Amino acid sequence: MDRIPRHTYYLWTIGCQMNKADSSRLEDALAQHGYASVPAPDQASLLILNTCVVRQSAEDKVIGRMQSLRPLVNDGEMRDLVVLGCFVENVADLHARYPFVAGFYAPSDIEGVMRFVAARDNPQAIQTAAIEPSSRIAEMVSISYGCDHHCTYCIVQLRRGAQRSRPVHEICQDVERLVARGAREITLLGQNVDAYGQDLPDKPDLADILLNIHDIPGLLRIRFLTSHPRDLSQRIIDIAASLPKVCEAWELPVQSGDDQVLKRMARGYTAAHYRELVAHIRAAEPQSAINTDIIVGFPGESDEQFLCSLEMVRELRFDMVHVAAYSVRPGTVAAAWPDDVQPQVKEARRSAVEELQTEIARERNAVELGRIVQVLVDGRQKGRWRGRTRTNHLVFFADERQWLGRLVNVRITWAGPWSLIGDAVSSIDIPCCTA
Ligand code: SAH
Ligand code: F3S
Repeated sequence: MDRIPRHTYYLWTIGCQMNKADSSRLEDALAQHGYASVPAPDQASLLILNTCVVRQSAEDKVIGRMQSLRPLVNDGEMRDLVVLGCFVENVADLHARYPFVAGFYAPSDIEGVMRFVAARDNPQAIQTAAIEPSSRIAEMVSISYGCDHHCTYCIVQLRRGAQRSRPVHEICQDVERLVARGAREITLLGQNVDAYGQDLPDKPDLADILLNIHDIPGLLRIRFLTSHPRDLSQRIIDIAASLPKVCEAWELPVQSGDDQVLKRMARGYTAAHYRELVAHIRAAEPQSAINTDIIVGFPGESDEQFLCSLEMVRELRFDMVHVAAYSVRPGTVAAAWPDDVQPQVKEARRSAVEELQTEIARERNAVELGRIVQVLVDGRQKGRWRGRTRTNHLVFFADERQWLGRLVNVRITWAGPWSLIGDAVSSIDIPCCTA
């Protein structure tokens, strides 16, 4: 039997922006190889899972997904399942446990997956024409892989390894290529994007990348994430603020508002230092949006220590807070410590942060009512144009004209906690720096 066209693939991705960026790169490489994407696994000859294990819940999803695809791999069709990403560690062991998986590849190992693809393609088969990679308005470019920090709860650094920064010229070439293909916004990615270059001989930094790509014609916006509070320099803050295409939007995970907990997390900064950084960012650019990550229920976290995190959320008025209940990850330093905060307590702390933040987000967005914001349109959804403000807030508006990939001024007529709705008032032909 071989009824499924061989050059079809189904790709499933979970996890961080880095995984999403890797999946985009993989899609491009597969298209170049003549592979077409299909929406359902049973229509595909190649099944690819790009995985995450940052918390137990993510790992459970990956295993569930692998098991659910198992019958398809054994149904007599010529079908291969390959697994990529942070799930992959100790490949020999994985092969023994999941013999129905044809290949396991480390995080970001697109080249490995493509070697598998080349090997599975019958060289005698009729050459399939390359498919044009799909063009996206907002694209991501990884500028470094891995992480040199050792946060005691974190498995990412164990699976992704030490930081490897890509050379400046390679990054610039990637950005130029994507912009030539129609991208208007580029997000630079790294586990610690602001530590970029520390491992390179001439020590370029993130600010150098921003300066180097800023004047590429056709590029309208630049973003970067994730910043680590320990690596964020005043130079990066100042240069980001001075360059008009660089959006005033920060991903700056604090993880905890308590110094003892921060210390046991091995984050390398204090709550006071974090507050200072936020003050510097807001001094350089008062409109800046700041998003953060918080872990609740870290081993030994007392009620008082948790309240320090809650207080920080109240005080700093973030735009968005990603809050997660602590999850034990095998092999990490904290895994040796008792996971002593009860699940119901973790859940109560998590929802306390979420409730407070929803209220703050609602208030912050309500201020936008009646204002005019600059939106880069990146798609359509439910009959309306969809885009984002410079501060990364989602905006919808209905309009007959063609707006894809363009900047437009939108007057906000409705504001909820998670999105805004408005009317297009004018197009912006020259990118400007006011939001
Ligand atoms: N440097 C990356 C970190 C990746 S992990 C970044 O800053 O994006 C992404 C987030 O997952 C972390 O910021 C943390 O809040 C959360 N996280 C990591 N390990 C966790 C764990 N063991 N339990 C709960 N949340 C965790
Ligand atoms: Fe993880 Fe901390 Fe690095 S959260 S990815 S070890 S900065």
